[in-house]
Amino acid sequence: MNTPVETLIARMTLEEKASLCSGADFWHTKAVERLDIPSIMMSDGPHGLRKQPNGPGEDHLGLLDSVPATCFPTAAGLASSWDPALLRRLGEALGQEAQAEGLGIVLGPGANIKRSPLCGRNFEYFSEDPLLSSTLAAAHIEGVQSQGVGASLKHFAANNQEHRRMSVDAQIDERTLREIYLESFEKAVREARPWTVMCAYNKVNGTYCAEHEKLLTEILRDEWGFDGFVVSDWAAVNERVAGLAAGLELEMPATDGDRDRLIVEAVRSGELAEAVLDRAVHRLLTIILRAHEAHRPQASYDAEAHHQLAREVARECMVLLQNDGTLPLVPTQRIAVIGEFAAKPRYQGGGSSHVNPTRVETPLEALRATVPESLSYAQGFAIAHDFSDAALLEEAVAQARGADVVVLFIGLPERYESEGYDRSHLDLPANQKALIEAVSEVQPRTVVVLANGAPIMMPWASRVAAILEGYLGGQALGAAIADLLFGAVSPSGKLAETFPQRLEDTPSYLSFPGEGDVARYSEGLFVGYRHYDSAGVAPLFPFGHGLSYTRFTYGELSLSSERLGRDETLTISFDLTNSGERAGKEVVQLYLHDSSCTVPTPDQALKAFTKLALEPGETHRVALTLTRRDFAYYDVEQQRWCVPTGAFEIRIGASSRDIRLTRSVEVEGDPRPLPTIDRNTLIGDLSDFPQAREYIHEALAPVAGDVPLLAAMQGSKEDEASEMMTAMWRYSPLRALISFSGGSFNEVMLEQLLVRLKMLK
Ligand code: BGC
Repeated sequence: MNTPVETLIARMTLEEKASLCSGADFWHTKAVERLDIPSIMMSDGPHGLRKQPNGPGEDHLGLLDSVPATCFPTAAGLASSWDPALLRRLGEALGQEAQAEGLGIVLGPGANIKRSPLCGRNFEYFSEDPLLSSTLAAAHIEGVQSQGVGASLKHFAANNQEHRRMSVDAQIDERTLREIYLESFEKAVREARPWTVMCAYNKVNGTYCAEHEKLLTEILRDEWGFDGFVVSDWAAVNERVAGLAAGLELEMPATDGDRDRLIVEAVRSGELAEAVLDRAVHRLLTIILRAHEAHRPQASYDAEAHHQLAREVARECMVLLQNDGTLPLVPTQRIAVIGEFAAKPRYQGGGSSHVNPTRVETPLEALRATVPESLSYAQGFAIAHDFSDAALLEEAVAQARGADVVVLFIGLPERYESEGYDRSHLDLPANQKALIEAVSEVQPRTVVVLANGAPIMMPWASRVAAILEGYLGGQALGAAIADLLFGAVSPSGKLAETFPQRLEDTPSYLSFPGEGDVARYSEGLFVGYRHYDSAGVAPLFPFGHGLSYTRFTYGELSLSSERLGRDETLTISFDLTNSGERAGKEVVQLYLHDSSCTVPTPDQALKAFTKLALEPGETHRVALTLTRRDFAYYDVEQQRWCVPTGAFEIRIGASSRDIRLTRSVEVEGDPRPLPTIDRNTLIGDLSDFPQAREYIHEALAPVAGDVPLLAAMQGSKEDEASEMMTAMWRYSPLRALISFSGGSFNEVMLEQLLVRLKMLK
């Protein structure tokens, strides 16, 4: 018996089927009225809806108007919450708003890795770490989809820069691609099952993502089990028919039927099997009908409740980077609020994610509401330009002098970071730097509140008392900042990215954004803290860092076992106590360090985390579980994840650079296959295999006696000379036995040895 979708496909003409493979306009799929196939609408985006009216009002840059919607903090901030449950609630709210607006799919979240802090779109992405990124993306997707609305996980894959984003070729070695750039999507696909995935503009290793069969079909569907449809990023399609064959079902936006005709012709000419088109239509119809059936025409949402949610979310996202005790503030202090961002906050990023907020609560309003009498305000600088205005500076300094404490609102103007282009430096505008200098000169109790979507340099950090990283805090940022500054809530955000001291310290400094259309990811696995920790480069603020108004004590660590066998998991537990005087939340982080280092691997990698709320004096038992995959690396030769044998160190930290507890665990690795056997196989690569050792011994002993090779292969290291011999033999190919045996081992014997070794496989 055919399913309803199969029945529909059987009734469709070739033209109707092809028509479903591209949009009706900028935001809708095509309807087929004859068969009652509905059209569904998609809209951006990750942290709030951008539903545009149809027709001339459409654009994809967020320049034109969209319906009012709640603007939540952008992903850079959301990731600093380290809180999947919070992301899920945000997703639910987005799903409710989408239902109320009649949307079938919300385009987001974006799970691309922050390869460089310069990427103009980093504010829309979660992290430099794939586990954090994919975990939060999964929660976001689950939240949206729980409301009967599809999510679109984007931009698949390796869309890590805006510079030449539609033509650049991201050249990435396979292990790095798997362990960093795809890993950032994998868990979100496997666990949250997004209805759609959006392919990226760029190429990966020479092929456009929009026609990348390995990415769109072999990995996404066959390995990860994706069963929705792939939509192109807007205008990402190069060759439509090749794209369809590779696994790209929906092209957006509309191409006036042009590309549909190409599909029809390709089927007619036999270039494209009709079964491939049918498969694509099946995937499209499944989701289109699912969205249509889940639509609730009477749906509405409570804008005020969502604004309050935006406030709560923003509080969890902001990161207290530095505090000498000046924070929290007390309402009786005379407070000078300085900086135009206090009155005209930057709370979201530019481009396709630009939301028309239902309202905006500015920091100045919110602080005035908290301390109506003792607050003054000075503009300090003009956001619109970079040069200082003497009168504004003078006014600010005078107010700073007369106050007990200054709250200085600093940030990146919108023109500094946006979708579409990257930054070329990590500096603040000159007028803001001058203001920080001048104010901190007269007022040591200066608290800086930052508005930016990605790291900036802070050569002035030691001159100020406290720094609150506000990121792009969404429409309720003002109230959230007031809550945190006055201690109504203790800060609990932690950085989801490293803040470098200098641009030159960043891992991709020498290869970002590439040359012409080639971006070589030459730093490999060493992205973000993986680079800083491995190379011993001190960051300004490390990955995972964030202060609180309370203190947490980590109790003794216990492991479910000292050894991890095959098919086993490992549970790591300890007591966490709030030993301070205030309620607070702690983000506990688990990093793994491969002590044996069988394959080159970053010094440590995040493998688990959790966020806990504790009252003063309260203790909670934390339990984190690791699976074998957490210990694995991607073995390119074997084309699979492999667990190496050896010792790993488990590190529990309050940040990547504040490790509180460590324990070692012995891991029983996966059996390793013999390397490819030929005359150039290295002797050292065989020495782990007893049978291979034995054959070499047998072949050589009669002719060469007790050659150092044999001892070397057993790893005996009696003296320096034998260590040297060990190394020499280890890196010698089998053919070198002929040259080193003084003539007693010859070509014929080598051939015989190769035959025996090959039989071991
Ligand atoms: C962006 C996508 C966005 C789409 C639709 C593209 O330019 O890269 O993230 O969803 O436009 O607005």
